[in-house]
Amino acid sequence: MRPDFLWGVATSAFQLEGSVHADWTAWDPALQSKPDVTRHYHLFREDLKLLKELGVNAYRFSVEWSRIQPEEDRWNDEAIQHYQEIVRILRQNNIEPMVTLHHFTNPQWFSERYPWHEAHSVSKFLNYVEKVASALKDVKYWITINEPYVLLLGGYLEGCMPPGIQNFQSFLKALEYLLRSHQEAYDLLHSIRRDAMVSIAHNMATFAPCQKWNPFDRLLSRFAQFFYNRSLLDAFLTGRLKIKFPFVRSIEMDVPIEGKLDFFGVNYYTRIHLRFNPLRKMGVELKHKDMERQGVSDMGWEIHPHGLERVLREVSKLRIPIIITENGIATDDDGKKEKFIKSHVDVIEGCLKKQIDVRGYFYWSLLDNYEWLRGFDARFGLYRVDYDTLKRKPTVAAAFYSYIIKSRSIF
Ligand code: FCB
Repeated sequence: MRPDFLWGVATSAFQLEGSVHADWTAWDPALQSKPDVTRHYHLFREDLKLLKELGVNAYRFSVEWSRIQPEEDRWNDEAIQHYQEIVRILRQNNIEPMVTLHHFTNPQWFSERYPWHEAHSVSKFLNYVEKVASALKDVKYWITINEPYVLLLGGYLEGCMPPGIQNFQSFLKALEYLLRSHQEAYDLLHSIRRDAMVSIAHNMATFAPCQKWNPFDRLLSRFAQFFYNRSLLDAFLTGRLKIKFPFVRSIEMDVPIEGKLDFFGVNYYTRIHLRFNPLRKMGVELKHKDMERQGVSDMGWEIHPHGLERVLREVSKLRIPIIITENGIATDDDGKKEKFIKSHVDVIEGCLKKQIDVRGYFYWSLLDNYEWLRGFDARFGLYRVDYDTLKRKPTVAAAFYSYIIKSRSIF
């Protein structure tokens, strides 16, 4: 194992801890019966020991804004100390922390008064970033915003995530303010720590036409590839964001993010097939197909390791280090989980041999946890959680991941 390659696991605070002050709590009735999900907020010391057991040298986790700032004019020092304690334990164990500042959830007051499509959202978010960054000076790796496109497609076009809006103009506004927040957070983190390594985590997928012969399906998959994967990369290169959706006037806007990245965080899970269907929004229907007989996950997502190479090649055009900030599978079947990990790590190994600058891999996730829009039955964890007793039990894939970390000399 090369000491500088980050071998880790990733989690998010809300998915392990819940939070009564977060907008998502009221959004999903499934959380009513399990408001503190895995009770990680109280059991964190035990959970952090699992990192040692796995032998990882890095851990990506998030801090929950709604715990740190439950009311607009109230900071919760206890929560800040809690996250400081996590960083202290990680450092003590030589595990590099990577902290996500925003992982989908907002404090309820923020969602009500300054949602992302309102200009004040930027300064409200920045106050919080300043508080966290000055409390966690020992942290070098930061993710400002997890999956901006997923957050906005879900929250502002599809309407399936808070704030549940379906409006293209609000989507564009929210996108502008979210990217401005990233830029300001980037500058702030660097003013506090010059050697900070800052990125977003961008959800990327590969796209294919449902029916290869169908020109509409082919066109849609080109649109998706360009918008979903590429447009944000280009915006980081040029400071200009171009959005082209089928049947909608294309949009171009200046965004102040040119060069505002020290590495690029990629979340990769699957390939998506697209079908033209005039009855659907923008004529798009998404499908998951088991094309190569590698199977699908319990989320129904196709297992498609080769897509990761395509995505990494695309990202390598940025000419900065790449870190895979999430990759994982929801399944009860340990053998399938092992195969998933092995096949994706093999692809990364191949990419390293081709001089693609990958510097880290974070498996999603350490423990089973709450999955957005889905509940508690999507088992992504290397450790299985029994939701009645809250006991954690290693899956066979946990031992396998440890073995991979130890045995891959190229990394
Ligand atoms: C990603 C999210 C993460 C988790 C995985 C399965 O899109 O960032 O929180 O839910 O999907």
